[in-house]
Amino acid sequence: MKACVMTFGCQMNARDSEKIAGILESFGYEITEDENADFVVYNTCTVRENANTKLYGHLGFAGKYKETNKDMVIAICGCMMQEPDEVEKIKKSYPFVDLIFGTHNLYKFKDLVNELFEKREYNKAHPVKKNGKLKVKHALICDVWPEGKPIVEEEPITRIKEDKRKLPFMASVNIMYGCNNFCTYCIVPYVRGRERSRTPEAILAEIKALASDGVKEIMLLGQNVNSYGKTLADPVSFASLLNEVCKIDGIERVRFMTSHPKDLSDELIDVIAKNPKVCRHIHLPVQSGSTEVLRRMNRRYSREHYLELIKKIRAAIPEIAITTDIIVGFPGETEEDFIDTVNLVKESHYIGAYTFQYSKRSGTPAASMEDQVPEDVIQNRYERLMKVVNESTLSETAKLTGKEMTVLVEGVNEENKDLLTGRLSNNLLVHFKGDDSLIGKFVTVTLDECKGFYFMGSVTNSN
Ligand code: SAH
Ligand code: SF4
Ligand code: F3S
Repeated sequence: MKACVMTFGCQMNARDSEKIAGILESFGYEITEDENADFVVYNTCTVRENANTKLYGHLGFAGKYKETNKDMVIAICGCMMQEPDEVEKIKKSYPFVDLIFGTHNLYKFKDLVNELFEKREYNKAHPVKKNGKLKVKHALICDVWPEGKPIVEEEPITRIKEDKRKLPFMASVNIMYGCNNFCTYCIVPYVRGRERSRTPEAILAEIKALASDGVKEIMLLGQNVNSYGKTLADPVSFASLLNEVCKIDGIERVRFMTSHPKDLSDELIDVIAKNPKVCRHIHLPVQSGSTEVLRRMNRRYSREHYLELIKKIRAAIPEIAITTDIIVGFPGETEEDFIDTVNLVKESHYIGAYTFQYSKRSGTPAASMEDQVPEDVIQNRYERLMKVVNESTLSETAKLTGKEMTVLVEGVNEENKDLLTGRLSNNLLVHFKGDDSLIGKFVTVTLDECKGFYFMGSVTNSN
């Protein structure tokens, strides 16, 4: 019996998928990437309209697969299921779906699966009469909670046993859930609930258990890690948590996502600067280069504050690689505002940027703002911005050519099996010749040739 878990969203979504896959494994399923499986879970995202469209495309295929595999289970979970309209649409138009749950009751997944199988058995044993014929009723479990409950902690060992990580030596750890920022374009606070931090004790215990399981690199996850710990009974800062994580034996690299510019403290910059275990990469979404747009986005920082912050970070950690997220076409964005964004990109020397076309999310304040920008204007600005972003990426990456740096070897290159792929502390990938035995190890490589977004390299030291 095979199971497939498809992730549509961000790293937090992917982390949830690991938990789901682990639980399915404990039911005896073998995990596969092939959607034509006995149990398929769509872990949805709703941050932009195209994330929603994607689900419906997949559901079409799943329905076909189910015609030939009647016992197949089709489950949908994740952020999109927190929207009642979407759930209604699925129930009505995709009646073959078996299980629907949301972001707040993921920890109940095992119980929900058991409940579904019991209901199926019951329905099989109790067929109902329809048009004079006996029919087995379709078993549907739909359980979505509108709000989150206080965090339910499991024993770290159980948690790790039930996780299905992609790589044995890298792991993501949630340090908080939800978001309180209510950026006016964003749906996340509505579908993920209020910000809740896990206690440092629970986080550190989990990371210690991961380290003894062979994990070397940790990614700390939160929608805004910089506000971590503020709502705990004993408040702690993210900087001090990060410092504690670095002290754990066996953990060699620590990453974190995402940093909100309004809350990035000097203390954090100091901890990163002093701790070589903290990766030399910071993702610092700016969203717009115009102070006026930022104000309407409710980002609570100005263009000047952001640029000042970048200066401060670079002064303290010169080798840091900075990436960002940008939205084009937020309601009311003028050509002047857009040029502010373009110029900010030029000044910030980003090594990478995710650019998004503004997508109207119903229920968010921006959806009802006046002056929605026409689609063709958004498209045009988007293309112009992409050009500037690509130029920045290329020139920042090329600066590293010829350097000798450490990678953590992640595996065999998918396109060219003769090559291995490793990741630099600054998050860039390097492909190089080497033996499979290096996978999971730290290796020094020379960055021989810049290929734009990655490097071709050669091993200089693999001890
Ligand atoms: N918590 C993170 C972002 C999570 S969503 C942060 O604050 O940085 C990831 C990215 O999606 C955001 O940074 C933003 O650039 C983009 N995004 C969110 N809502 C969007 C919308 N309605 N339209 C277009 N892009 C959006
Ligand atoms: Fe969305 Fe803003 Fe929260 Fe990020 S900080 S998840 S963009 S509301
Ligand atoms: Fe998407 Fe939910 Fe993440 S809406 S971006 S999967 S928090």
